Amino acid sequence: MPNTKLIVGNWKMNPATLKEAKAIATKTRAVASVLKNVDVVACPPLPYVAACGSKKKPDALHLGAQTVSEYEGGAHTGDVSVGMLRDLGVEYVIAGHSEEREAGMTDDKVNRQISAILAADLTAIVCVGEKIHDENGAHLDFLTKQMNQTFAGIPASKAKKIVVAYEPIWAIGAKQAMSPEEIYEMSLFIKKVFADLFGRDIGVKVKVLYGGSVNSLNAAEIIKIGKVDGLLVGRESISAKGFPELLKAVDSI
Ligand code: PGA
Repeated sequence: MPNTKLIVGNWKMNPATLKEAKAIATKTRAVASVLKNVDVVACPPLPYVAACGSKKKPDALHLGAQTVSEYEGGAHTGDVSVGMLRDLGVEYVIAGHSEEREAGMTDDKVNRQISAILAADLTAIVCVGEKIHDENGAHLDFLTKQMNQTFAGIPASKAKKIVVAYEPIWAIGAKQAMSPEEIYEMSLFIKKVFADLFGRDIGVKVKVLYGGSVNSLNAAEIIKIGKVDGLLVGRESISAKGFPELLKAVDSI
């Protein structure tokens, strides 16, 4: 089986207009359609999701959402359900991004979102990551606890549709990414914790992505030396020059 990498673009609350969003999607789709070893997912802001999709199936650009309600429907003003997202062609949903956790989203809530995503048979891209990373290793305890709470009660039979995005918070929106060597260590650690939770078979197969200041210059090294299964890309994912270069660099590894 080819070792396909998963590259997810998290556009956050960008760009400012629908026109720009469509242009980014069109350009990204054109690049994605010629890649052989990369699956590309775009996660635009919700109001743009439908317009960023394509009627032609299969689409080289997979659609993702940045968050979702834990509820199926009902009196939840402002919420959007997984069913609604699925209807728009969304296949992937990010859960527990640190910017949402920072704004008060608890592990319990992320856990319920994951359940909702998996119940709809979509793929959950679950973000985990520590605020502080030092040689005392407290981040390892933090991650173990965060993963235990975030994945509590999720049945192993559903865990195949979980992708873990390791995003050390201090490396998000920063000048520099974590070093590829450290990323390698951390991805192994995350696979181990995942295996402890869901069993060895699932633990060895889980896709672990790295996110935090990935760009077209460091992406290939992070994949090669960090040995991660893909990347969660913020700023660079809406760069007209940078994202196509990043995708091509990863495709040619
Ligand atoms: P960044 O964001 O690539 O801009 O650091 C990553 C993320 O927040 O997912």
